[in-house]
Amino acid sequence: MEIKDDPESQSKAIRCHFKEVADTYDELATKNDMSHGILSAAAVKNIETGDKVLDIACGTGLVSEPLMRAGAEVFGVDGEEAMLSKFEKKGVAKDHLHMADLMGNGVKLPYASDYFDCIVCNGFLYYVRDFGPLFAEAQRVLKSGGRFHFSFEEEYGEDGKDYKIIEGRRVSKIMLEQRNRMVYFHNRPQTQALLAMQGFSEVDLTKPTFVHNSPTTGRPVYYTFVDARKTGL
Ligand SMILES: C[S@@+](CC[C@H](N)C(=O)[O-])C[C@H]1O[C@@H](n2cnc3c(N)ncnc32)[C@H](O)[C@@H]1O
Repeated sequence: MEIKDDPESQSKAIRCHFKEVADTYDELATKNDMSHGILSAAAVKNIETGDKVLDIACGTGLVSEPLMRAGAEVFGVDGEEAMLSKFEKKGVAKDHLHMADLMGNGVKLPYASDYFDCIVCNGFLYYVRDFGPLFAEAQRVLKSGGRFHFSFEEEYGEDGKDYKIIEGRRVSKIMLEQRNRMVYFHNRPQTQALLAMQGFSEVDLTKPTFVHNSPTTGRPVYYTFVDARKTGL
């Protein structure tokens, strides 16, 4: 399949990939990937019993599970049925799981405004070209003072070696050429500016942190973890 730099074909390609790996996802991710543990450990510090938490691109629920154990009422949204069905079979988030395509300009989270105390999103935003629409939705559904914890991949590497520029965006060369998928490297100051524009303050970003060797390329992958608080526009 030819991949184009538009949210619709990207969404189709990525969801298709997760449909294929849904059965083995937990085994591989719990063995090799530290990102869900790092993100849930950061979020859990601010969780109180009964808090409503939204897990964006929740997959099989690896980030959600520790938050539930900490007493949160977790809701999960994801674009791939096979991943959600793995989560559902765990029997811990009954009636709280929803399907939605979260790429593109028409992103709409299927929840009321000012509903959640916390939002988490791990291992998804590197597939998203423009953070703006999803950040705007996150800010809409979060209560004032609520926290948004997410991970993304920052720009790194050498010009022409590690990435390609496509329509002004840095895209992982190896993922594009070997796996036919777009993985976007986002710019740190631009991400901070976008959060500020969307009414998030007290934004804390980690340094790029090693999370795993990519099962597809074998190369080390670094995520930047963000903790942002909604204070208003
Ligand atoms: C790497 S997994 C991360 C899952 C989970 N957050 C974790 O940390 O284990 C990426 C998730 O993004 C979901 N996804 C991919 N494309 C999507 C789309 N267009 N809309 C919503 N979710 C999507 C996949 O189904 C998958 O569950």
